[in-house]
Amino acid sequence: MTARSAFISFEGIDGSGKSTQLDLLAERLRAEGHEVLLTREPGGSPGAEEIRALVLQGDPDRWSAETELLLFTAARRDHLERTILPALAAGKIVLCDRFADSTRLYQGLSRGDLRQAVDTLHTLMIGTEPNLTVLIDINPALGLRRAKSRHGTEERFEDFGESLQARMRQGFLTLAEEQPHRIHVIDGDRSIDDVAQDIFNLVQSFLA
Ligand code: ADP
Ligand code: TYD
Repeated sequence: MTARSAFISFEGIDGSGKSTQLDLLAERLRAEGHEVLLTREPGGSPGAEEIRALVLQGDPDRWSAETELLLFTAARRDHLERTILPALAAGKIVLCDRFADSTRLYQGLSRGDLRQAVDTLHTLMIGTEPNLTVLIDINPALGLRRAKSRHGTEERFEDFGESLQARMRQGFLTLAEEQPHRIHVIDGDRSIDDVAQDIFNLVQSFLA
């Protein structure tokens, strides 16, 4: 990485406002003269976008948690090799909608305890963490309401229901307590502008 590059991920349950806030942050950072790459997981490279359709569409029980873990990890490896690492090498700020923390929770905790397998695969195949993670925290019922209001086709995880969202929210907060230097919690249950201002302040002080 060069001095100007940074790898920043956004995490949070479905509907917490990640995509909305990523767009606003990218716009503000570009206006300040930064080169920004906005990307997402699962996806962010042609091969990983193909895997995205496999994991986000269809029945909730389409894949076991183990198979899902392999698919998400394959997608992440491709995304890292072809998109993230080249952008960091070129001195860009990489803003990524979800990264490995999502796998730690959604595949690691949602159906049985696969956390050890998630960590082992991460070490073997990914081995990279964001420099900064913005965790947008929101009430699960509100998140699900917002996510469902999009009426999209990628609803496989939303279809697991509110109890899964509640467990994922708690899991994200626990991760943030374990890694306070990397993961910063932002209250997402406020106006879009208020949330955006807090995130911008956080990222600016991080970059400084
Ligand atoms: P995520 O990417 O985390 O799933 P989105 O950014 O797509 O979340 O937001 C989900 C929905 O909620 C969108 O329709 C968006 O316009 C809306 N939304 C996002 N942030 C807020 C907010 N702070 N207040 C009200 N609605 C919001
Ligand atoms: P995303 O497109 O960010 O959905 P949303 O905008 O609703 O938050 O992510 C789609 C889903 O993929 C989300 O429900 C969480 C899931 N997911 C995993 O299960 N594991 C992963 O490693 C990642 C990156 C996402």
